[in-house]
Amino acid sequence: MCGIVAALAARNVQGILLEGLKRLEYRGYDSAGMAVLENGTLVRQRANGKVAALEEKLTQRALKGSIGIAHTRWATHGKPSEVNAHPHLARERLAIVHNGIIENFEPLKDELEADGVTFESETDTEVVAHLIDRAFRHQNRANQDGGETGDLLAAVQATLDRIDGAYALAVMHADAPREIVGARKGSPLVVGVGIDENFLASDALALLQVTDRFIYLQEGDVVRLSDAHGIEIFAADGQPVERPVHTFEHGDSAASRGEYRHFMLKEIHEQPTVIAATLEGRLSGSHVLESSFGVGARALFERVKQVHIVACGTSYHAGMVARYWLEKLAGLPTTVEVASEYRYREVVVPENTLFVTLSQSGETADTLAALRYAKSRAKSRDKTSGYLGTLAICNVPGSSLTRESDLALMTQAGPEIGVASTKAFTTQLVALMLLTLSLRKSRGDEREAALVQALRGLPAVLDNALAMDGPIAELSEAFAEKHHALFLGRGTQFPIALEGALKLKEISYIHAEAYPAGELKHGPLALVDADMPVVAVAPNDELLEKLKSNLQEVRARGGELFVFADEGVALTAAENLRVLHVPPVDELLAPIVYTIPLQLLSYHVAVLKGTDVDQPRNLAKSVTVE
Ligand code: G6P
Repeated sequence: MCGIVAALAARNVQGILLEGLKRLEYRGYDSAGMAVLENGTLVRQRANGKVAALEEKLTQRALKGSIGIAHTRWATHGKPSEVNAHPHLARERLAIVHNGIIENFEPLKDELEADGVTFESETDTEVVAHLIDRAFRHQNRANQDGGETGDLLAAVQATLDRIDGAYALAVMHADAPREIVGARKGSPLVVGVGIDENFLASDALALLQVTDRFIYLQEGDVVRLSDAHGIEIFAADGQPVERPVHTFEHGDSAASRGEYRHFMLKEIHEQPTVIAATLEGRLSGSHVLESSFGVGARALFERVKQVHIVACGTSYHAGMVARYWLEKLAGLPTTVEVASEYRYREVVVPENTLFVTLSQSGETADTLAALRYAKSRAKSRDKTSGYLGTLAICNVPGSSLTRESDLALMTQAGPEIGVASTKAFTTQLVALMLLTLSLRKSRGDEREAALVQALRGLPAVLDNALAMDGPIAELSEAFAEKHHALFLGRGTQFPIALEGALKLKEISYIHAEAYPAGELKHGPLALVDADMPVVAVAPNDELLEKLKSNLQEVRARGGELFVFADEGVALTAAENLRVLHVPPVDELLAPIVYTIPLQLLSYHVAVLKGTDVDQPRNLAKSVTVE
């Protein structure tokens, strides 16, 4: 949802900003732009489309200056176009980049128009540009007697008091030539700490080329970067605050594609390694260490009587798998819901409910809002609210979700750049299995020991599953010309079928749906014909025989079937029936392993179709708006 980079340095910043934008492109790629201060004049370059289009413009007219701000956009207010691209200017003196939505922009715009301001774009951001500039000029006039110029920080703070919504922003002004002011509320913003130079960005990844030291701003923080005072942070109440500096641990290689053609392929292949990293330090002998979940986890877990899981997109699918695990292994009633629904419902929460959010980014607006909803209801002691505590399973350290939850378990997937989530999903599943085992009342039994052993062996099994790449690439040809596909699974594999269908539609733009196989005859069977490939996920579990009957229903209607099955499953390839064997694993971990071939299938179909695999149209990786 839009990427922001800003730099205040002693050297030329165009290269730093451009590299930052390339690294942030996963957040939005409708248009891009940059503004720097060149000898006291604000100069701006913007381009519709990807960052490469901006780069092309910059080769024709480079920007030369040591202070600048830049942006890559995911359109909300106003269509993708050069005129709506950021930075937006006010009177050619102030430049702003913004991520998020200003909800009350219409009355503010009316007020400014009545005051004689003419707008260039359709964006809500331009309103903020003019409001800050106006506040800055008012102070200027008030200060003129004292010979002082306006205070950009105070102008930003005064404007923030007037705007509603969620945002991260960075502002510079030609009349405050060595300052950048940033603010965050609802959208992430980090400060990159350099040596005699400092930066702002939506994501630390954007700045790894220049620093590995970061300050993660908190909700309501405003920051001023200046030559005079370095980095100053002010909390929502305007008081100066100290925030800790963190060192980024994953190294800069995480942000490059290496030998792989796409980030998505690299991330699919990283799964054995990042799953091993997610397990590291969390298993001891034959059990799971509850301390992995943070201080107080043990006491809290002992009291849990049910679980509410809330998430969006792929993370939601991980939650759906966990429901089967929590019910079967831990005997805990579990509900799983998409965050955008949960947060607006009058949820009845039985006593001793653990509220769990799942999120790769930790910044997804709806998931965060659902957490805040749960916390506010818990605080109000509402009789229908029995929340016991909150847990975030998340991949980004320092993210809002982890900071605002009582407990957090970090997945160790490392930065995930491909918009379609892969390694974040499988590491979430591993984390959820650790949670399930930790919530069982009968700790330390044989079942726990067997699953811990199976978890330890999982990276090796996934390596074998990745070896299916060649046969799957071949199979993908059967999908490239199709317009629809159906995915079937039962039990824990139903969410995996959903995830397989989501991956296919996200990156290949083929309409794909998933059904629990038992539902086939209640509707989707009507769609089955030779043009509708049907993918079935068929591990050797208790539901296999039932699934086989469902597959016969498809074959009898002339449908073309692609079955991913355990080696031991007695299914022989025949006309219209292709069988691909998936390496065996403990039945309960099968959803993790079966995810791999479905990821590879969607990847190869997208490559055949020539779509933009890492940045599929209309989507963005981190959805920080509602
Ligand atoms: C976006 C991404 C999805 C992701 C979802 C939830 O829609 O494109 O890949 O699953 O957000 O994101 P989160 O960071 O909360 O897991």
